[in-house]
Amino acid sequence: MEVVVKEDYQGMSRLAAKIIADVVREKPRAVLGLATGSTPLGTYKELILMHKEEGLDFSQVVTFNLDEYIGLPPEHDQSYHYFMNENFFKHINIPPGNVHIPNGMAEDLVGACEQYERDIKEAGGIDIQLLGIGANGHIAFNEPGSSLGSRTRVKALDEKTIEDNARFFEHMDDVPKFALTMGIGTIMDSRRIVLLANKANKAHAISITVEGPVTALVPATIVQLHPRATIIVDREAAVELERPYRDTPHDLSEAVAYIQRQKGKDS
Ligand code: PGA
Repeated sequence: MEVVVKEDYQGMSRLAAKIIADVVREKPRAVLGLATGSTPLGTYKELILMHKEEGLDFSQVVTFNLDEYIGLPPEHDQSYHYFMNENFFKHINIPPGNVHIPNGMAEDLVGACEQYERDIKEAGGIDIQLLGIGANGHIAFNEPGSSLGSRTRVKALDEKTIEDNARFFEHMDDVPKFALTMGIGTIMDSRRIVLLANKANKAHAISITVEGPVTALVPATIVQLHPRATIIVDREAAVELERPYRDTPHDLSEAVAYIQRQKGKDS
């Protein structure tokens, strides 16, 4: 697992966007796993800029979002369908048919979850999964205590999440109580993970995620076991980390240059 500490939110967002853009440039049919929430907004802004200014092409890209509330139609302004359209998809050239977000209006919810897993497989698997993290260490709607091997499924929302969301709805009855979410096992199957965190309220979750033991009580800790995970945080989210971390991803060219210098000494 690689940990990169950037000075601020913009630095974090720029690096995340560059990593994703590199994947898309190398593989135009890349399968991207995407997240909602305030954290990835800057990353989407940077990717939109790259599309508009540098011609970054999403015409063959396929996406799968992590989760969606049950019972909110796609046009509801609190749905993740709406969020993704407003903040990303409508600004880039991705064909609508290439976008996948769990269907929180499905009559057969279990069937919809199974189909989502099949769709990911049929698309060739997720090349890179973008993740935020909750202050309690959740990833997607996998709250503390979720099975570390779980697949896409229905989850009841924590009381705290329901309370936090109440402000966005007129009546308490309208606040979603359930969601469809990729499981932790689904997320771990992606070929690469980029987890982002900014602000001080994430510092504790990040310290356990990076340096603590792997535990279902902090679902994000599972990324320690992923063969290719990058955690990018701003200074504030890094304050509880014990060890020093770099501000740039590891670059093999440094190691190659070192070998060259050592060889030069021998000859
Ligand atoms: P946030 O949410 O980006 O709005 O902080 C992250 C999450 O809960 O996964």
